[in-house]
Amino acid sequence: MPMFPEAWMDELLQKTDLVSLVSEYVVLSPKSGRLWGCCPFHNEKTPSFSVQPDKQMYYCFGCHAGGGAIQFVREVERLGFVDAVKFLAQRAGMDLPDEVDDDKLRRERQHKERLYMACKEAAVFYHKQLLTKEAAEAQQYLTRRGVDGKLAARFGLGLAFDTWDGLTNHLTAKGFSKNELIDAGLAIRSKNKEGCYDAYRNRIVFPIIATTGRVIGFGARTMKKDEQPKYINTGDTPIYNKRNNLYALNMQKGKHPQDLVMVEGYMDVISLFGAGVDNAVASLGTALTAQQAKLLKRYVERVYICYDGDAAGQNATLRGLDILAAEGIDVKVITIPGDADPDDYIRQNGRDAFLKLKDNANTLNGFKLNHIASQFDLHSADGRENFAKKACAFVGSLEPVERERYAPLVARKAGLSLDAVKAQCGLAKPMEANNAVKKRNTINKKREAKDTEPDRIEQMLLHAMQSSREGAAYTAERMADAELVFLSPGFAGYADALLVAFLAEETPDLSRLVAELPEDQAEAAARVMMEDPITGDVKPLVDDCINKLMHNRVNERLKELAVGMNTPGADRAALLKEHAALIQKLKQFK
Ligand code: CTP
Ligand code: MN
Repeated sequence: MPMFPEAWMDELLQKTDLVSLVSEYVVLSPKSGRLWGCCPFHNEKTPSFSVQPDKQMYYCFGCHAGGGAIQFVREVERLGFVDAVKFLAQRAGMDLPDEVDDDKLRRERQHKERLYMACKEAAVFYHKQLLTKEAAEAQQYLTRRGVDGKLAARFGLGLAFDTWDGLTNHLTAKGFSKNELIDAGLAIRSKNKEGCYDAYRNRIVFPIIATTGRVIGFGARTMKKDEQPKYINTGDTPIYNKRNNLYALNMQKGKHPQDLVMVEGYMDVISLFGAGVDNAVASLGTALTAQQAKLLKRYVERVYICYDGDAAGQNATLRGLDILAAEGIDVKVITIPGDADPDDYIRQNGRDAFLKLKDNANTLNGFKLNHIASQFDLHSADGRENFAKKACAFVGSLEPVERERYAPLVARKAGLSLDAVKAQCGLAKPMEANNAVKKRNTINKKREAKDTEPDRIEQMLLHAMQSSREGAAYTAERMADAELVFLSPGFAGYADALLVAFLAEETPDLSRLVAELPEDQAEAAARVMMEDPITGDVKPLVDDCINKLMHNRVNERLKELAVGMNTPGADRAALLKEHAALIQKLKQFK
């Protein structure tokens, strides 16, 4: 929520009671710990709309509308996010942020200003050190990696000498307090709590600069070959959060690039710029977030993901693709041959070779198909057949125009006739999970009214994920093993958000997390947030759900196969074989 300061938003949500807000539209009456009324979003005679006062969440069991106060106002008043916030502020009698003259807020703002200044001073300090005689080793290191003085200056690269207090002394002499240095992530509090010492020592320093042009954090790389960790990065501070920023996006200010190339690391960006490809940004090795995708969307319509060629890079690419596509970005994938990263590649092969890779970049679905192909041995008949099934299931889930485009590709790779592939593709019905860009559920559109059995199981799994860090990790792992994905709208997105939040911090603030989710995911969240966390071991529950869901999905597919076998022109042998394989699979999930 970039428009409103966090402290102000917290106050607004504190002052807004969902029960009294909803009561302005709906007559609520209590039953079994909740409040119930007739849903304002769909027509009904018996109440299926519920509010949980302690959680400040609402959810309709009839039409699945759900969320917190902001979502409620958005839907009921049909307002955008900003207007909904303004609406609530007026209702709560709060001034809008630029008019508030709140002491706490002003102090926070001043503190942040100090942190910005400290980071800027630090960047200058480190950069000057890199230019000294004593920095010969670091200069050679950079030269060896193809970074000359000019390129280093362009990115404000610096050097932290091998001392414990070089920066701390410099900045305290300039009037910064130890707490300010610690808050900015520049220094670390000593064990005895009295003093502090420099966060980065004997490392090349990469300043991270926000699109406002201000230094907000740093990455620092060791120059030793096998020293761990290779990079030390600024953690979350009042002015920096890696989930909301992209390295080097500041370089694009005022440049109106056609598209951006997104790479993993600091050195990838710098090498690309060095070679004349100056539209590169880096996600800094972390899983791409929706906030980062939104940030990119302000600059370009198209993003090329160009991650490392290794397996980790390719898996990160798969996740990144969906996140970018969900924000409406046209996303393409540049594949670097072998295990090289973009830095290695462009230094060995030059700009033109890289731009050629970019010209030949794959589409989102093309990349996914290649990824499916990489899981099978296409030299063997069995491998091709299994590939064909999985690929056809995927292609069959796409829009009809896209099917036309990708069916021939599958046919070629699988060595099958186009007709056979098309017939097999026709068996799959469009799957929710593949429609990353989903149209918003409007009030006018009638929502799916009933929860099916698999829906309820998915809900249970999400509930297990939400209950604890272990629950989230275990469920994700089991689902991945069983190759199961969430099909209910928004579930997969909320599950990802939960995982990321749990990995980043011990107990995520669920209401804050939900406030930042897109609508369908917020609805999914609201649905399960009505439940209290599961205490005790979630594993038996999760195992049970996985088994049931597996049975459900397999049985669905078996029914489709039965229909498929009666379709003229169907490859009965292939279908029978899949049938047998599925029965086999079911046995594992007793
Ligand atoms: N990273 C990190 N900490 C690590 C390793 C990686 O923060 N221990 C982040 C850094 O932002 C890094 C990015 O992940 O730039 C990509 O990692 P990797 O490919 O290992 O590093 P490179 O950028 O290729 O760095 P170099 O070429 O200097 O080895
Ligand atoms: Mn590298």
